[in-house]
Amino acid sequence: MTLNNLNDLFLHELKDVLDAEHQLVEALPKMADAAADPELALAFQEHLRHTERQVTRLESVFAALGEDPEPDTCEGMQGLIEEGTELMETDAEPSVRDAALIAAAQRVEHYEIAAYGTLRVWAATLGLNEAVELLEETLEEEKAADQKLTMIAEGNVNIEAETEASEAEDVEEVGTAASKPRPARTGSTSRRTTAGRPRTRTRATKPARGSRRKTRAR
Ligand SMILES: [Fe+2]
Repeated sequence: MTLNNLNDLFLHELKDVLDAEHQLVEALPKMADAAADPELALAFQEHLRHTERQVTRLESVFAALGEDPEPDTCEGMQGLIEEGTELMETDAEPSVRDAALIAAAQRVEHYEIAAYGTLRVWAATLGLNEAVELLEETLEEEKAADQKLTMIAEGNVNIEAETEASEAEDVEEVGTAASKPRPARTGSTSRRTTAGRPRTRTRATKPARGSRRKTRAR
C-alpha cells in the first residue's frame, strides 16, 4: 500500500476504524454480561446500539467517497480488547471487576475519540462535508459514552470496589481471630449482590471503618 496524499491516508484510517467498530460490536455484549452493576450493564448495551449505528455511519462515509467499506485490521483495538478480556476473566470481586471494565472501556473510548477527531479534521481539510458531519456525530457519541462511564465509576462503582477491598481485609482479620471464614458466594446471583446487600450503596451510607469492624467482630 502506498499513501500518496491525505486522501489515501484518510481512506486507510477509515478502514482501520471500521474494523475497530466491528470488533466492539463483538466485545460489548460480553462486557455487558460481565458487568455486575445494572447501570453499567445498561450503558454497555446502549453503547452497543450506538456502535452498530456508527458502523452504518462509516459505511455512509465510504459511500460518499465512492469506495467499498473494507475493514482493515485495527491492531490497536485488538490489544485494548485483549487487555480488557484478560481483566474480565480474572477472579475478582464484582465491583472491582466493574471498575476494571470501566477502565478498559474508557481506554477504548479515548482511542476512538482520537481516531474520529483526526478523521473529522482530515475530512474538513479534504472538503468532504458529508463525511465531516457523519464523523462529528460519532465523535460526540464517543465523548458522551466516556462521560457516562466516568459518572458510573464515580457515582457508585469505585466506592463499592474500595469497600469490597476493605471488607475483604476486615473479614480476613476477624476470620483469623474467631476462625470464622467469610460466607461463600454462590452462583450468578453473587455478581449482583454482596451477602444480600443491595448494590446501590453510596459514600453517604457507607459505614465508617471502625463501626463496620465492630459489627463484624461481634
Ligand atoms: Fe465507536
